This record gives sequence, C-alpha cells and structure tokens, in this order.
Amino acid sequence: MTATTVQLKHEVKDLSLAPLGKQRIDWAGREMPVLKQIQERFGREKPFAGIRLVACCHVTTETAHLAIALKAGGADAMLIASNPLSTQDDVAACLVADYGIPVFAFKGEDNATYHRHVQIALDHKPNIIIDDGSDVTATLIQERQHQIPDIIGTTEETTTGIVRLQAMFKDGVLTFPAMNVNDAETKHFFDNRYGTGQSTLDGIIRATNILLAGKTVVVAGYGWCGKGTAMRARGMGANVIVTEINPVKAIEATMDGFRVMPMAEAAPLADIFITVTGNKHIIRSEHFQDMKDGAIVCNSGHFDIEIDLKTLESMASEIRTVRPFTQEYRLKSGKSVVVLGEGRLINLAAAEGHPSAVMDMSFANQALACEYLVKNKGKLAPGLHSIPAELDGEIAALKLKAMGINIDTLTAEQVEYMNSWTSGT
Ligand code: ADE
Repeated sequence: MTATTVQLKHEVKDLSLAPLGKQRIDWAGREMPVLKQIQERFGREKPFAGIRLVACCHVTTETAHLAIALKAGGADAMLIASNPLSTQDDVAACLVADYGIPVFAFKGEDNATYHRHVQIALDHKPNIIIDDGSDVTATLIQERQHQIPDIIGTTEETTTGIVRLQAMFKDGVLTFPAMNVNDAETKHFFDNRYGTGQSTLDGIIRATNILLAGKTVVVAGYGWCGKGTAMRARGMGANVIVTEINPVKAIEATMDGFRVMPMAEAAPLADIFITVTGNKHIIRSEHFQDMKDGAIVCNSGHFDIEIDLKTLESMASEIRTVRPFTQEYRLKSGKSVVVLGEGRLINLAAAEGHPSAVMDMSFANQALACEYLVKNKGKLAPGLHSIPAELDGEIAALKLKAMGINIDTLTAEQVEYMNSWTSGT
C-alpha cells in the first residue's frame, strides 16, 4: 500500500483482502479484452483529464476493470455500490489499496449506509455519473439541484434505471443528457440474456446446491433477462413455466416452447420461482399460500421489491437461516417457503454476477458512453440518448476479433443491390 492510498478516503470491509481481490481482478481481466483495449487507448489519450466521475455499480471484479480504465483515462473516479448485497469486499479493498480509487461499499451494508454512500458520492461533485438503477441521478435531482450545472451527463446500465429516467424526463426533471447503455445491442442481447441466464442459475445453485433437472421452474417476466433465465433453466433439464403481462412476450414465450400461465395457476406447480420483471409484488400472499411445501423463491430483477417479503414475514411463525443466503419461512399453515438472497438479485447476492466475458461488452459501452458525453459536452439535449450504432458495431467487432472469429464483408455488387430500389421480382 502506498502513502497516498493510506490517506485515501474509503469505507471498505477490510483492506487486508486486497491481495485476494488483485488475484481475482486479474483473472477476470483475461475475459475482458475489449475493455482492456479501451483502457490502453484511454491511457494514451486521457479523455477524462479534469473530470470528476462517480460510478454506482455492483462492486465486482468486472466493475474493477471499468474503474481502472476510467482512472487510466484521467478521471477522478469514485465507486459506490448499487446494491447492499452485491459488493465483493476483496475487490473493494484492492481498488483502494492498489489502484488508489476511493470506494465506499461493503457487502451487507444496511439501507442507511447505502444512502449515506450515495450522499458521499454526490459530495465528490461529479461531472459524470455512471448509474446502475439510477439511485445517484434520482438523489441528485431530488436533493442536490444546485449541483446540476456541474453535470455533463449520466450513463445508465440497467432496464430499471432506464424506466426511472424515462419517468424523470416525463416529469420534466431530467435536465441533462443520459446515455442509455442498456439499450445498446452489445449490452442487452448479451448481458441481460446470457449474463442473467447463467448467473441467476449460478446463484441459485451456490445458495442451495439443488439439482435443476426435473424441477419445475417459474420464470416471471419474459424480457431479455427472463428469456436468458428460461433458456438456461431449460438447458439444465428443468420444466419451465413463464408468467407475463405482455401479450406479445407471452406469445413469444409460448412459441419458444414454454408453458405460459398466470402466477396463480403456476404457484402450486413449481419447485423454484424466479422473478425478473422490474415490477413489485409479483409473488404475494395468495401465491405463497398455494405453493408446495419447501418451494424456493428468488429474484434476479434490480430491486428487492418483486417478492412481497413483508407479507411473507407476517404469514410466518418462524424464520431461520438454513444456509448462507437461504432462509426458510415456516408458515402458520405448517408449510415452508424458502427465500434466497433476501429477495435481492440472487446472481450477485449468492454468486458473482454476470461472467466477465459479457461485462466486457457492457462496460466497454459504459466507458465509450462516458467518453461520448465528454466529447459532446454542451451539445446533447436533455433526456435519454442511444449509444451511437457505430460504437455498438465497434464493440462487437473488437469482441469478435478477440475471440478469433472472422466474418464476411459485402461485395461491391451486394452494396449496390442494397442501395438500389429498381430491381424487384
Ligand atoms: N451486473 C450483473 N453482473 C455484474 C457484474 N459481474 N459486475 C457488475 N455489474 C453486474
């Protein structure tokens, strides 16, 4: 640890975990070649010189690489957690001790601490905010209007945050640009689908060690995260039921070969319930009441609102922890319901979140979105902006190159055909 890092402001669990964090961050880096190339260019070009930046993200080995890339680009960067249960304490320690990045995050922080960290992040007087769920941006707008003139823009990682930003814009309070990282194709096609799909099952398995083959699994919500989760659960041999409120998505799930029905019908049938809707109280009292004894319930949506745990608590005569991240609620009826990860994102609570290879593309988008905001400072209208298609294409091309995959290019004849409308049948 250097003299400067000792004086660095931070709130992490234990700085002595730094060597383990370094080892795991290095390991993740093997799967993040796109972000690495961006980091190297940032190191040469310093696009963030003089920029104060706050990232409110899950503090994982992958986020470490994003923070390191931004710092290499000259940013005065600070990191806080975007969820009380997702921080990897060794990563937080390493970023402070080895990279001189202030981190305010520890696994298991309570809600008051979480909100205090959001305030500390705003005390950093950011010019750019990277949000995962929009908590820093929403707090800025609600409580720190006087800091808005400092803001160049914000970037948002997740669907839930985008929904909040849309609501802010509709209410006329989003008065600066916000980059919609979630909607980049190289983000949601991969991170939401393959990342959530694999890591959600990883979290369930690490928490419970149950066999998925032959189990009936309910996936609530058939957005990109739901699609990935349903696909991977089927791949593990589960019988998958999808619940939806959107008729188009419900047909899609049906034609993808899943049974589709309301939660009330699915409740007595399933062994495992996974919510990925972004909405609240998807599983509530009438569903708990009808579940099989020992049914397992968890959430992989952004906030811990999808399972009505307050009501479940009121229905229980006893709650006991039976394994880490696994609590059994004994109902007054005599049956039990098992809740994983306190209803918080199970992939980050009990496992390590999305694998590095998908976060490579998500965070390449974040890094390039921040650079885009700086390059276009003062020129972008308030509200949400898509990641330019060229950046999406650039990230996909870099990823393919790193994977050693070549693709075809259009011939001159094909280009001409695509640009003409005269030749038909
Ligand atoms: N969101 C989901 N998985 C993640 C990860 N591994 N790192 C950061 N944010 C994530």
